[in-house]
Amino acid sequence: MLIEFKVNAKQYKMDVCPTMRLLDLLREELRLTGTKEGCGEGECGSCTVIMEGKAVNSCLVLAPQICGKEIITVEGLADDRELDLLQQKFMEHSAVECGFCTPGMLMSAKALLMKNPHPTDEEIRTAIAGNLCRCAGYSKIVAAIKDAADA
Ligand code: FES
Ligand code: FES
Repeated sequence: MLIEFKVNAKQYKMDVCPTMRLLDLLREELRLTGTKEGCGEGECGSCTVIMEGKAVNSCLVLAPQICGKEIITVEGLADDRELDLLQQKFMEHSAVECGFCTPGMLMSAKALLMKNPHPTDEEIRTAIAGNLCRCAGYSKIVAAIKDAADA
């Protein structure tokens, strides 16, 4: 089926299989491989992207569901010249170990700050509750998000 959508401010029109997952559309069709696949069943958050301003698990979204929608992936955070403030704060706080969860964490955090620019620690923890970090770097991740919000 033919769908139209926007990813990182770029408009696309594509003929897709109706059962294709958004995760596969991003990684395999658009070659935006920053979005990671962990569990593939909505449990780990590593595939998180922002759809219409809300964090979603791209492994649970089918291509037809993005018709007419706007998606932001981790590649859409930085502009040509500089990293997004959240990315800078993750670096400053060493909130990255293996890095596998990082794109998903960043997108959940970005979705939070888009609707709530000054969240409490509790609100930050709730926003990233669906993002698992196997390196258990949660304290640094929360501190980085808090610092980005306070900047
Ligand atoms: S890969 Fe989508 S939630 Fe784990
Ligand atoms: S930094 Fe390794 S999974 Fe989070």
